[in-house]
Amino acid sequence: MKYPHPSYPAYRPRRLRRNPAVRALVRENTLTTDDLIWPIFLTDSSDESVDIPTMPGVQRFPISMALEQVCRAYESGIRCIALFPYIEESGKSADCSHALDPENLVNRATRAFKSACPEMLLMTDVALDAYNIHGHDGIVIDGAVDNDATLARLCEQAQIHAESGADILGPSDMMDGRISAIRSTLDDAGFVNTIILSYAAKFASCLYGPFRDAINSAAALVGDKKTYQLDPANADEALRMVERDIAEGADMVMVKPGLPYLDICRAVTDQFAVPTFAYQTSGEYTMIRLAIAEGVFNPDQIIPESLMAFKRAGCDGILTYFAPEAARLLRG
Ligand code: PBG
Repeated sequence: MKYPHPSYPAYRPRRLRRNPAVRALVRENTLTTDDLIWPIFLTDSSDESVDIPTMPGVQRFPISMALEQVCRAYESGIRCIALFPYIEESGKSADCSHALDPENLVNRATRAFKSACPEMLLMTDVALDAYNIHGHDGIVIDGAVDNDATLARLCEQAQIHAESGADILGPSDMMDGRISAIRSTLDDAGFVNTIILSYAAKFASCLYGPFRDAINSAAALVGDKKTYQLDPANADEALRMVERDIAEGADMVMVKPGLPYLDICRAVTDQFAVPTFAYQTSGEYTMIRLAIAEGVFNPDQIIPESLMAFKRAGCDGILTYFAPEAARLLRG
């Protein structure tokens, strides 16, 4: 045995669980607002917040309202947000050209948030699905997602996000070669300090379903994303993807989904000395939220417990729709 102890009665592990002070003294992991990244949905098509039926308690916000939310989140201790736009049908096309418009919703929001709250780290989604008439994360040619045609678009999109002021770019597309392509595009354009948080181990999961409703990409999606996202059966392949993305220049990596994939989080944090994040996805959020609504769980217990699980698995932080609520709970 690795840690020899005397046996009972000399060894009484309950001694270290006797009261809150002792438990706090020996606690191995901590969860603070520093660990949270809050994903926010944006809309241009309303002046008010719009509920998302499959994500109870989560709304899409017009930029002006989101701005207030972002400032309030900063005051509550949250230091990083991630932006996801709801794009109208008129902004969707086969070549995803609206993704490259410096005046699109994400780029306008980025400039607005960075000027109102410059200290808040701002992450954007480098991916084409919101803008794609096919709902895919890549350009569809002859019915298939074309890797290399997609890379060119992703690089342009990444540069425009950086020009708008994004601090962190999150390529979530799972195309081959995208990290090195984006890194060299950024370097050539002088954005040497823009951080890349690669969605490195992203699985083809049904847990993204509510998100696709939230950003209006579900209806468009033809087929599934299995030719680029990972097979949920594969752990070794996920580690190869993380290794590759680090080698290509990712500063940080992500595992997604979160809770059902904690084995991947642990393997990544054991094997690679690189900041690692997990995405508690829309489906995970909704499972927990519905159980809370049914009175099965107390939110004050389930939310911190579900987030602490990521810390225990070695993660440096978590993208979670519970971020504002978690921040309130963590501040007591
Ligand atoms: C795609 C993207 C997805 C999510 C983040 N970026 C969905 C997908 O791959 O279909 C999912 C997030 C969530 O479920 O909360 N660009």
